[in-house]
Amino acid sequence: MEFENILIEKEEKLAVITINRPTKLNALNKPTIKELHKALVELEEDHDIRVVIITGSGEKAFVAGADIKEFSDFNLKEGATLAAKGQELLFDYIQNYNKPVIAAVNGFALGGGLELAMASHFRTASTNAKMGLPEVTLGLIPGYGGTQRLTQLVGKGRAMEMIMSAEMITAETALAYGLVNHVVEQAELLPFTKKLASKIANNSASAIMRAIKAINANFKENVNGYHEEIKFFGECFETEDFKEGTTAFLEKRKPNFKDHN
Ligand code: COA
Repeated sequence: MEFENILIEKEEKLAVITINRPTKLNALNKPTIKELHKALVELEEDHDIRVVIITGSGEKAFVAGADIKEFSDFNLKEGATLAAKGQELLFDYIQNYNKPVIAAVNGFALGGGLELAMASHFRTASTNAKMGLPEVTLGLIPGYGGTQRLTQLVGKGRAMEMIMSAEMITAETALAYGLVNHVVEQAELLPFTKKLASKIANNSASAIMRAIKAINANFKENVNGYHEEIKFFGECFETEDFKEGTTAFLEKRKPNFKDHN
């Protein structure tokens, strides 16, 4: 389908979604969130696609936040609905996506932009990237999961400081904090991220799907992650990929994994 605010490029087993509102620094308005959701639903059903990369268009911004114009006159109910809908349609949806989602942070990732990157399974960044949660400068707090995911990723003290001070951190600091996994020159960001994604795409999609669920279980209330791991580990033994992976190893050849199974 046609999208107005995002671009989708498919390359072998990878899909790159580019948020494409460069004149607004790719700020996330409602239509963009809806389109991202739709695109992700379609890509989840596309058996050729194994890994999704999300990035921003232009050289300046990944995403400079939720679109401030859209919510400037909201009341309590509208504010809470905005956060709940966004979390459901996009942020939680990405966290629980059954294919790997990598955020390639190519510039400013602020507010909802950093929250989008943090909902992704992991992050790469360009040297010019700047990350922060500046909501308190607007009289707000992060509403798309930022208070939770930043704390999980960088620890309570750093999350408290970043959110209270609203200061941006550099890519180098984000790397030291463990907020991003790799920092490369901007021109190298997509090629580097695609190379990493291609390696992932050659591994068992069904095993990776279960690994995502098991890792996420660590952050769910009333769920024992070790028990979940045992359950998903057991399930793997019933998959075609397990047969193919072990057979290929014993036959001293590379495995040829099929679609999700
Ligand atoms: N929502 C809506 N529009 C935004 C936006 C956002 N979060 N971030 C940037 N824009 C728009 C600006 O309004 C401007 O539009 P205009 O040309 O129609 O006036 C355009 O994007 C370019 O931004 P500008 O502020 O002129 O660029 P800059 O280089 O001077 O500053 C930032 C860059 C990122 C520091 C600055 O845009 C900024 O602080 N943005 C808001 C960040 C924020 O608070 N995000 C959290 C939202 S919850």
